[in-house]
Parts: sequence; structure tokens; C-alpha cells
Amino acid sequence: MSKPYYITTAIDYTNAPPHIGHAYEKVMADVMARFQRLTGREVYFLTGVDQHGQKVQKSADAAGLSPQAFVDGVTSKFLALWERLNVRYDGWAATTDDRHKRVVQAMLQKLFDCGQLYKQTYKGHYSVRQEQFLTDKERGPDGVFGEEWGEVIELEEDNYYFKLSEHVEWLKGFIRSHPDFITPAFRANDILNALESSGGQDLCVSRPLERLTWGIPFPFDPGFVNYVWFDALTNYISFAGYLADECGNEGLPEFKRLWPADAEVIGKDILVPAHAIYWMTMLHALGFSDEDMPKLVVHGWWNVKGAKMSKSLGNVIDPNVLADAFTPDGLRYYLMRDIATGYDSDFSEERIIMSYNKELAGGLGNLLNRSLNMAHKYRGGVLAPGSYDDDENRALRETVAAAPTAYVSKMAAWDIHEGIAAAWKIVTHANQFVDSTQPFKLAKDETQAARLDSVLYHLAEALLHVSVLLSPIIPDAMTALRAQIGWTLPDAFVVSDLKWGLLADGHQLGTPVPLFPRLEFEEKA
Ligand code: MSP
Repeated sequence: MSKPYYITTAIDYTNAPPHIGHAYEKVMADVMARFQRLTGREVYFLTGVDQHGQKVQKSADAAGLSPQAFVDGVTSKFLALWERLNVRYDGWAATTDDRHKRVVQAMLQKLFDCGQLYKQTYKGHYSVRQEQFLTDKERGPDGVFGEEWGEVIELEEDNYYFKLSEHVEWLKGFIRSHPDFITPAFRANDILNALESSGGQDLCVSRPLERLTWGIPFPFDPGFVNYVWFDALTNYISFAGYLADECGNEGLPEFKRLWPADAEVIGKDILVPAHAIYWMTMLHALGFSDEDMPKLVVHGWWNVKGAKMSKSLGNVIDPNVLADAFTPDGLRYYLMRDIATGYDSDFSEERIIMSYNKELAGGLGNLLNRSLNMAHKYRGGVLAPGSYDDDENRALRETVAAAPTAYVSKMAAWDIHEGIAAAWKIVTHANQFVDSTQPFKLAKDETQAARLDSVLYHLAEALLHVSVLLSPIIPDAMTALRAQIGWTLPDAFVVSDLKWGLLADGHQLGTPVPLFPRLEFEEKA
């Protein structure tokens, strides 16, 4: 049995509720998981939440809650959003899960035993308010630490460090010799540049218990807890079954079968140093070979009017509000069609309205509605392909036949917006086909009866093909489309099963219902 396609995402911080950036990443991974299944591949999709750390401890304190109660509350918002947006994962990675904690501890012990972790005293400037050590980078132009840091004291502290520097030469070589390690490929330079400057130093991986209690305790030194990134990054292997037997973990996949990840989908902000340097060197230190390294897919950011979303700017876009206004599929469609993977995009209300009203409602929904209405009006909803054929029919069939190949190659390369465009060629062509064949005129002329039958059949069949190609992107709407056509997608149906003639002679079409009811918004041209 071949290896399942293992896709994971970043785990989201649970110090604040989800925003559109989180939704984008999870929908993108869900689209890829569904697409891979549609090509016949078995898939395992893992996502989850990052629940430990200083930020959470602080937010919980501010809310007067225990850290666990606080993260449970925020986690439920993520869970509800994924349910609503149809993000269908197979595994849920919550870092407070005992199974995860056991793996993190076993991993720390392994690294300690083989001399990859060491204890050292660090002396430096420490911000009491922000609870962090400061470096010269945090000094203002006058050489003084700014007011935002509050009281700054000299502090001496013991901590554990990971010998990251020992793995830097290996990492450079690995990146140079594995161009497929990262998508898009241009990101490899960001990593190499960081390693050339100061990105390869040993990494502090602990916090003393007095400063941070909300973390995983060190198994060999109870005075310390594991600090951010080590605990978070480990989720990709702990929830994939790494050390499951040793840790007595149950209900997880078989690690040997699943690993390495075919895609760890993350945003550009957490590539360097976290995923490309910390994670890769950690795995190397644990004894993972070059063949056992995961692949990274790095997406860009959604901004608002060119600015980063932030609570203080008050410009955070809430995906729930958008799903209310545009339906979950309307939001999924916009998030996938209006950004090129790897690059940034600007959230725009005008564009999401346009994508819904002009494309989904005016393009696809209208095509379905008029095709079905005509078939019902002229033929009682019964299809009869007959033997009539002409150049217009042939041209539409050619467009339908050509779409899957272009679609598959774009989707497989993570060019999802171009995959959509490849499928959309059928929608555009079929709408033109209605305009040029003018079925309402054919219906008035008895001598054109055979041609009208063939036109109605071509439209229904073309719609069915589109519905299969777009099903990873807008799954519910495409199921609804097929229900209106009166055709159910067989369980094991894959893209390569798309052949002309899915609908039998005499097929009875279902009832037309507007698929994407037009929304009344003030449209700015
Ligand atoms: N908890 C860490 C990740 C640990 S992974 C082992 C984290 N969490 S986060 O909540 O801040 O971000 C989660 C993901 O959302 C990241 O991949 C991040 O890049 C992505 N995004 C956060 N804001 C975003 C946008 N505005 N646009 C697109 N994606 C963004 O980082």
C-alpha cells in the first residue's frame, strides 16, 4: 500500500480568536486534501492549536481564568469555524493533549541523553513587563530601552540550550541539494541568507518554572518547562504517531506509514527561523535522515489596505462575519481565487462581492439555473443526447476534455487560483454556448428538435464535469449542483473517471434552485 499524502498546517495560537489569515491556511490545506483524494490518493490531514506559552499565560491572567479554561474557550472558536467552513481534518493536534506532552518529554530526554541539550547561564537585560530578555536590537537610537519595556533589570538565569549550530552545515547542504523541499522555491534563499547571517546559533529551549508555568516540564529537570517552538513544532510528529509505542500513545496513525509530511502548510512569517531552521535541525538531531525530512509549503499573507491586520489598528477581518454574508463556500471560493500561493493579497470587500455575485452567482449559478430551466420547460427535464452533432458541440466537448489535465497540474503545484481558472474555462464556454446556440429559438422550430436535445445534454454534462473539478474548493455547493442535476458522485470517483457521457439517455434532471442567490450589496463598479 502506498504512503498516504500527509498534509499538516501551522497550529494556531489560542491567545486570540481566529481571523481570516487562519481561515485561509486551513481552507487551503483542506482544498489540497480534497484534491489529493480526488486524484485517488489516500490522505491524512492534521491541524490543531498551539496552547502553551507566555502569551497564553498572560491572556489567561488578564481574563481571570486558568490557562486551561482560557485555551479551551478559544480552541472551541477554532473548532466551530473549521466545522462551519467544512475543513475536514483527520487528526486534531492540541498541544495540551497528554499524548503530545509524553512525546515532547521523550524527545527532550533523547536529545539530553545524546548531548544535544546543555544547561548554561545567561546574563542580560530583562524586561519585567514583557517578561523577556532584551538584546541591543531592542534599544532605541539613543541606546536606551524604550518605555514599552517598562522596568528593565539585569538578570542572570540558567536555561537549557539546543546545539542547533552543530547542524547548520548539514542544513545548508540539504537545502541546496533538495530544491523540492520548499514551495515556492524562491523561499530557499531566505533560509540560506538567514543561515549566512546569525541564524545558526544554539537555541534556548526552556524557561524557569518561576517565570513560566504553562508549558511542558523537562523530564530531567523539573525546575524548567519547555518553551515555545520546540513544543509546537513537535506536533507534526507526535500526532503522526512518533514514539507512540514508547509513550503508550493510542489512537494515532502508524508513523512509519505516514511520515514524512508531504506538505507542512505555513505562513511566510514562521518559515525563518522556526520551520526552516529550528524544526529541520531538531529532526536532524533526533536522527531523521534526508529522506525523512518534511516538505514545506509557504503561503503569503492577507493584509488590509496594504497593512498588517492587528487588534490595535482595529482591522482584523472575522471569517464568521464573511461566512454569514457570503456563505461558507462563498468565502472558501474568494480565499482560493484571489491570492497566488506564496504571495500576499489584500482583503477587499469589493472583490469578495464581485467574486460571489459575478462569478459564483452570475457565472456558475446562472449557467446551472438556465440550463435546468430550459430542460424542464422544453423536455420535462428528461435528457436525450441523440446522435446530432456539430462544431459547436464538439468545441464544448473539447473544452470539457482539456480542463482536467490543466486543472490537475496547477492544483498539484499549489497554483490553486490557476486550477480554478482551468475549471472555469468550462463555465465560460458553456455560457457562451447558450448564447450562441440560442436554445429558446431552437425550441420554437420543430426541425431543430434533435439539435435542442443535444444542446441540453451538453450543458448538463459540462456542468457535471465542472462540479467534480470545483468540489475541493466549494464542496457543499457542488454537491447541491449535482443533486439538481440528479447525479450522485460515486464514492471512489477520481478525476481520471471524468469521461464524456456520465449522464445516461433518458436521465431525469432534478429541480432547479438558485445555487448562489444573488446578494444585494451596493456594488462599486
Ligand atoms: N502557533 C504558531 C505556529 C506554530 S506551528 C508549529 C503561530 N500561530 S498563529 O496563530 O500566529 O498563526 C497560525 C498560521 O496563520 C501561521 O501559518 C501564520 O502564518 C498564519 N497567518 C497568521 N496571520 C496571517 C495572515 N494575515 N494571512 C495569512 N496567514 C496568516 O504562528
